Amino acid sequence: MTSLAQVRPPPDDWHMTITFITGANKGLGHETARRLIDQGHTVLLGARDVAAGTTAAAALGARFVRIDVTDDASVAAAAADVERHEGRIDVLVNNAGIHGPHGDPAALTGADILRVLDVNLVGVVGTTTAFLPLLRRSADPVIINVSSSMGSLAATHDPARAESGVIAPAYTSSKAALTMLTTQYAKALPGIRINAADPGYTATDLNANTGPQTVTEGTDAIVTLATEGPGHPSGRFVDRTGEIAWS
Ligand SMILES: NC(=O)c1ccc[n+]([C@@H]2O[C@H](COP(=O)([O-])OP(=O)(O)OC[C@H]3O[C@@H](n4cnc5c(N)ncnc54)[C@H](OP(=O)(O)O)[C@@H]3O)[C@@H](O)[C@H]2O)c1
Repeated sequence: MTSLAQVRPPPDDWHMTITFITGANKGLGHETARRLIDQGHTVLLGARDVAAGTTAAAALGARFVRIDVTDDASVAAAAADVERHEGRIDVLVNNAGIHGPHGDPAALTGADILRVLDVNLVGVVGTTTAFLPLLRRSADPVIINVSSSMGSLAATHDPARAESGVIAPAYTSSKAALTMLTTQYAKALPGIRINAADPGYTATDLNANTGPQTVTEGTDAIVTLATEGPGHPSGRFVDRTGEIAWS
């Protein structure tokens, strides 16, 4: 049987920043992987679909790790895989997300809400809990939760902002909960820099490619949080222009 000491990288590799990204086979997660590899990170590309994840990882020079954030066994297997191969991570990007139903809340079911919360909120909790022991081995551990201004009371109530015209009760409430979850983690885990990123409205499959931003613009906040280095605060909500209000 191979011991952990045999499969972990040699000590010379421990200065590298190892970044695990969920939902990285396409969209913002994929572009985050590409940009962080460009900046020298060792990227572990998380995806639930083996074929999509393998293809994306091979094209980018990442290592594919299968993870379905709604499946506890899959999340545990992903963390065990990273434990065996890298032995730690420095950055966890909780990016995987779904939109769920638009429109009339009169037709909304509890099952609709649960399906969206399962990925966008519960999936973040399960992944974070599973990867915390690996993050705690880092000299500068970072968690980035990919949230949205669609979960901001201020943005969704400002008639000047596009968010105010969208009715998406499941998605918006899941992201409001995710930003609050982020502040709770930031308070409870002072040794880890934990922030939320708002990509801004970006053309991806999530919105049938209707967003005006490119994926490169949409990943500016995530990449900044992943590369800013020690000494920056925890518990921020950041878009590509800088810190924004939680409310
Ligand atoms: N695009 C925007 O305008 C925008 C704005 C604000 C925030 N965001 C947030 O940005 C994040 C990325 O979204 P995107 O725009 O890049 O959308 P996307 O292109 O649809 O990508 C979503 C990713 O999440 C993955 N995913 C979904 N359910 C999963 C699960 N159960 N387990 C693991 N992975 C799962 C998808 O995998 P499959 O390919 O297998 O489905 C895909 O890789 C999301 O959290 C989203 O809410 C996006």
